[in-house]
Amino acid sequence: MQLFEGDVMKSDLLKFGRICVFYTVITLCISAQEKAPTNNKSLTLFLQPNITPLFTELYEVYGLSDLPKKTFFEDAIYLDQSTPVSILPMQPSNQFVFDHASDTLTAFHKKIGDFELYVDPEKPKPFFYTASGSKHLIAALVYAIVTSAPGKKFVFVEQAPFYAGHPGAVSGIFTYPNARFLAFHDPKEIKLEPGEELVEFVTSPNNPDGKFRKPLTEARILIGDFVFASSAFGSDKTGYRELNIQWIRQARAAGKHIFSFNSASKQFGKTGSRCGYIWYPLYDPYAESIFKKFFGFISASTVAAGTTGLADFLDLIKAFLIMPETGEPLRQNASESLKQRHIFVEKEFLNRYPDSSILSIPGSPTFFAKVRDKRIPSKNPLDILLEDLNVSANSGEAMGESNEFIRLNLCGYSRQLAEFLNRLAGQEKYTEHDVFIFSDREAIAK
Ligand SMILES: Cc1ncc(COP(=O)(O)O)c(C=O)c1O
Repeated sequence: MQLFEGDVMKSDLLKFGRICVFYTVITLCISAQEKAPTNNKSLTLFLQPNITPLFTELYEVYGLSDLPKKTFFEDAIYLDQSTPVSILPMQPSNQFVFDHASDTLTAFHKKIGDFELYVDPEKPKPFFYTASGSKHLIAALVYAIVTSAPGKKFVFVEQAPFYAGHPGAVSGIFTYPNARFLAFHDPKEIKLEPGEELVEFVTSPNNPDGKFRKPLTEARILIGDFVFASSAFGSDKTGYRELNIQWIRQARAAGKHIFSFNSASKQFGKTGSRCGYIWYPLYDPYAESIFKKFFGFISASTVAAGTTGLADFLDLIKAFLIMPETGEPLRQNASESLKQRHIFVEKEFLNRYPDSSILSIPGSPTFFAKVRDKRIPSKNPLDILLEDLNVSANSGEAMGESNEFIRLNLCGYSRQLAEFLNRLAGQEKYTEHDVFIFSDREAIAK
C-alpha cells in the first residue's frame, strides 16, 4: 500500500512538475510580450531551432496533452546489446519493447496509408530499431556505409537547400578519408571521380522549403528522410504520400538499397522523446552487410534510445489509433495553420524587405528566403534580422545556399509567431488566433 501511494505521489509530482515547467515557460514568454509594447522587442525570438510546439498547442485543444499511461516499459534497461542481433538474438526484454513499438507504429502507418515508405511489402519482416532521434540514425547510416568499405570512396549528395544534419553526418563528426558531401542544384553538377559511389539523401517534404523531393541521380544507395512526411506538411494536404510511395516503389523495383526512417520529433511534435525509428531492411544483402557497423555505432555512441521517451511517444500513437480518422483533422489543422503562417510571413517579410526571394512554399515547416537589403553584403542577414526585429534565424549557408539566405521556424508557439509578424509589420496587427487554425472546435466540444 505504502509503495502504491508513493508511486501515485511520484507520478502526480512528475506530472505537476511537467505542467509547471511547460506553463512557466509559456507564461514567461507571454507575460514578457504582454508587458512589452510590440516595438519594444526586448525579448529575442528564437526562430532558428527546428522544433514543433504547434503540436503541443494542438494536443492541448484535442485533449491529448495529458494522456493516460498505456505503455509500460521497464525503465532500468538498456535498449541495446553490444553484440549485433545477426549473431545473437535480441535480449528478450529488448525484443518485447521493439516488437511492441513496431506493432504500434505499423498499425498507425498502415492506417494512414504510408507504411510502404518504410517497409517493402514484398519482403520478409525487417528489423525495427530506434535511436536518439533520427539525427542519430543518419549518423549511424553514414558511418555504416563508409566504414564497412574503407577501400571504396563515397560521395553523399543532396539537392540544395537541405537539412544541415545530412552534411553534418558526413563531415561534421568524423573526418572520413573515403567520404565527401556534395550539394547540387542540378544533378549535372555532380562530377564523380573514378571509383566513387553515389549515395543520395532525399527528404520529402523537404526542410527548409516544404517541397516534394524524389531521387534525382543514379545513386544505388538512397537515404529517405521522411520526418516531415505527414499530411501536416507539404502543399497537397497529404505530405506528398502517393508521390513518395511512387518513387520508393520504383527505386525498390530497380533494386536500389533504401534506408528510410521517421522520427517522433517533427510530425508528432515529440522532439524531447529523442526517438528516431527505422525498419532496417535486413532482407537486403547490402543492408545486411553494413548492419554490424550500423548497430555498433548506435550501441557505442549512446547505448541506443531510451524506454521512457519511446513509451510516451507510443501512448500518443495509441491515442491516434482510437481517434476518428486516426487524428487526421488534427493534422489538417496543423497543415492549415502552417500554410496561413507562411502566407502572412511572406507578405510581411516582403513588405519589410522588398525584392527578397521566397523559396519555401505554404505548408513548409520553415520559411526560407534570400534576403535583399542595402546593408548586404557589408552586414549579413542574420545580424540584420537581429538588429531590426530581435529575431534569431538560421543561415542558409549550412543548407547548401549562400549566407544571403535565412531560415525561420514556422512550427513554434502561436503567440511567438504572432509576435514575430507584429515585429515584421511594425504594428500590433496579428494575434495567435490568426496563426492557429482550429476548425474542429464543434467536433471536440461534443
Ligand atoms: C529533415 C530532418 N531530418 C532529421 C532531423 C533530425 O530530427 P530528430 O533527430 O529530432 O529526429 C531534422 C531536424 O530538424 C530534420 O529537419
